[in-house]
Amino acid sequence: MGRALHLGWVVAAALGCSAASAGPDAGAAADVASSAAPDAAAPGSTAPSAALEVRWPGGQTTLSPAQLAALPAVRATVDDPNRHARATYAGAPLIAVLKAAGAAPTADATVVFHCADGYAAQTTVAQVERFAGLLAWQGGDGGPLPALPRHGGGTLDPGPFYALPTEPGATNAQHPWPYQVQRIEVVAPVGRAGRMAPPGAPADGPVARGYRVFRGNCLACHAINGQGGAVGPDLNQPLNVTEYWRPAPLRRLLADPLSVRAGSKMPGFAHLGDAALDDVLAYLAFMKDHKLGPTP
Ligand code: HEC
Repeated sequence: MGRALHLGWVVAAALGCSAASAGPDAGAAADVASSAAPDAAAPGSTAPSAALEVRWPGGQTTLSPAQLAALPAVRATVDDPNRHARATYAGAPLIAVLKAAGAAPTADATVVFHCADGYAAQTTVAQVERFAGLLAWQGGDGGPLPALPRHGGGTLDPGPFYALPTEPGATNAQHPWPYQVQRIEVVAPVGRAGRMAPPGAPADGPVARGYRVFRGNCLACHAINGQGGAVGPDLNQPLNVTEYWRPAPLRRLLADPLSVRAGSKMPGFAHLGDAALDDVLAYLAFMKDHKLGPTP
C-alpha cells in the first residue's frame, strides 16, 4: 500500500464523492471475472431527475433530462466499491453524453466530475473509453438510483448522477466512482487552449510538467480561473497564490500543510518529490499572468 492509497483514504474520509475503497490497488483486487459488460437498458427507463451541465474548453451547455433520456441506454452490473457489493445501474455512456453536449472529447483531455460536496473527481477521455464509463441515473429496474452506504453510517442518495466504470479492473486513478455528480467538465491537455491550461508553455518545460502535476493532484479540490474543484479556493483569481504567499512557506504548505496551518484540511504532497513540487509552483506562478476572470 503506497502513499497514494493513503491519500485516497484521506480524501475519501473528508469528502463524499470519492470512492472510499478504490485506491490504486483496488482494481487489481477487484473480482474481475464476475463483472459483466454493459447490456441493453431495462424497459421502462426513466429520465434523470436533473439536468446536467457540461463544460469544455470552447463552451458549455446544459443537457435536459429529456435529452439525456434520449441517448443510447446502457445497463451494467458492476462490483461497486462504494457499496462493497454487486449492483446494476442504468443510464447513458459517458462518451455519448460528452458528444451529445458538443464537447468533441479528444483522448488526452481530462474529464472532471463536479460533485455536490465540491469535490471534483477526474479521469481522461481515454480511460472513460477504455473502462466504458457510464453516467447512471437509474437502478437496474429503471427506478431511482439505489442508496449508497454513507462513510461513517447511514445511507446517501448517489443522484442526480453516478459516473462509474463498467469494465472491471479500473483503479480509482484510472476511472473514479464519483456520485452526486452535478456537472462534467472537459479540461484541455497541455498545448491546447483552456481556462486552466498554461498558454504557450513549452510541452516539456517545468510549467507544462507542473500543469500535469496540478491536474493529477490538485484539480480535485482547487480551480484555476474558475475551472476545477471547489473544496479549496481558486488558486489564481482574483489574486494568484504566488502574489500573496512568500515562496518558502508556500512550498512548505504543499509538502506538509499542518506544519504551516493548524487545522488545514488539505492533504500533504511531500510524496510527489521536490521536483514535482517545484514544477507545480512554476505552473502556479506562470498562471499569475493568465487570469481570465470569472467563469461565464
Ligand atoms: C482534498 C482537497 C485538496 C487537495 C487535493 C489539494 N488541496 Fe490545497 N487546499 C485545500 C483546502 C481545503 C485549502 C484551504 C485551506 C486549508 O484547509 O488549509 C487548501 C489550500 C491551499 C493553498 C492556500 C491557498 C490560500 O489562499 O491560502 C494552496 C496554495 C494550495 N492549497 C495548493 C494546492 C496544490 C498545489 C495542490 C496539489 C499539489 C493542492 N492544494 C491539493 C484542499 C486541497
